[in-house]
Amino acid sequence: MSKIRAAIKAVEGYLPDYILTNEELSTMVDTSDEWIMTRIGIKERHILKGEGKGSSDMGAVVVRRIVENNALSPDDIELIICCTVTPDMLFPATANIIADKCGIKNGFGFDINAGCSGFVYGLTTAAKYIESGFVKRVIVVGAEKMSAITDYQDRATCPIFGDAAAAVLLEATDEEYGYMDGVLHSDGEGRKHLHQVAGGSCYPPTHQTIDARQHYIYQEGQAVFKWAVVKMAEATEEIMKRNNLSADDIAFLLPHQANLRIIDATGKRLGLDNEKVLINIEKYGNTTSATIPLLIWENQHKFHKGDNLILTSFGAGFTWGAILLKWAL
Ligand code: UT7
Repeated sequence: MSKIRAAIKAVEGYLPDYILTNEELSTMVDTSDEWIMTRIGIKERHILKGEGKGSSDMGAVVVRRIVENNALSPDDIELIICCTVTPDMLFPATANIIADKCGIKNGFGFDINAGCSGFVYGLTTAAKYIESGFVKRVIVVGAEKMSAITDYQDRATCPIFGDAAAAVLLEATDEEYGYMDGVLHSDGEGRKHLHQVAGGSCYPPTHQTIDARQHYIYQEGQAVFKWAVVKMAEATEEIMKRNNLSADDIAFLLPHQANLRIIDATGKRLGLDNEKVLINIEKYGNTTSATIPLLIWENQHKFHKGDNLILTSFGAGFTWGAILLKWAL
């Protein structure tokens, strides 16, 4: 009997309307378009505006589109995995809120918090559910309202992040396409370099935590940078070696979009031609769990059936990993 695999059958992306440019950011903190473009490679990012709007509002748009554009009924969706570090609230899971907003009542859902590696963790989890035969159809959504935890008085972090959602539909197949292999890693020691201090059980919200601005992202940029450059490349090398793939065998690398310099360094270390390394950071910034599905959504017209795609990420945790996909459409 052939192995059951999980293949991407549809993908959708959503960017909120408001665009925060480097010019506007320069009126908020002491920065410039030149610094941000040179050091990070971001020109603009999208921001979700509106009282009471959260990650689920963006996530529901892409999940609804997947259902409607693929002649599915909400009842066909057996599992929703929402990858996010910006859930609507600490509980319940944003996956459940998205499911409710989309009328999905016949399955189950949960969130994955793996920082910027959320989508790589979520896609792997979904693939394993399918490979085991437990479910046949899953939606994995990366939905992030990063603007909710970004300190727009901190010039070292506020240029980096943007809001977005993107999702893939994964279905069971007995063909040799889809999720072929994955490597996941984490090291909790890295938490000291990238975290949000308050709002959890250690430091529940108080007037003091608010005054100390502890509900925003804390990042030691240089430490994170050094880890990211090494670990994304290592994870990709690990998966290429395990599957006997050389740079020539890779159609495209889809790296997490945190910093153009990290992406360039990763591509060079792997010996990949520039055109094989997909990039959209200039338009959207770092949308955490949404960067990789957004890359898939925007570039799917370039992919051919059977293409080897490698997804790789690094993020808070620290978490990192890589996935080998054989494009199934
Ligand atoms: O997705 C999750 C994983 N996250 C990442 O992968 C992020 C990794 N880190 C980075 O991308 C980079 O470290 C940053 C973009 C965060 C920072 O770039 P950097 O080249 O590492 O800059 P730096 O922190 O070393 O700062 C260099 C200088 C400092 O000034 P002094 O001390 O040299 O006078 C900063 O104060 O740049 C200054 N600076 C800025 N200047 C203008 C920091 N932010 C800004 C800014 N505009 N926005």
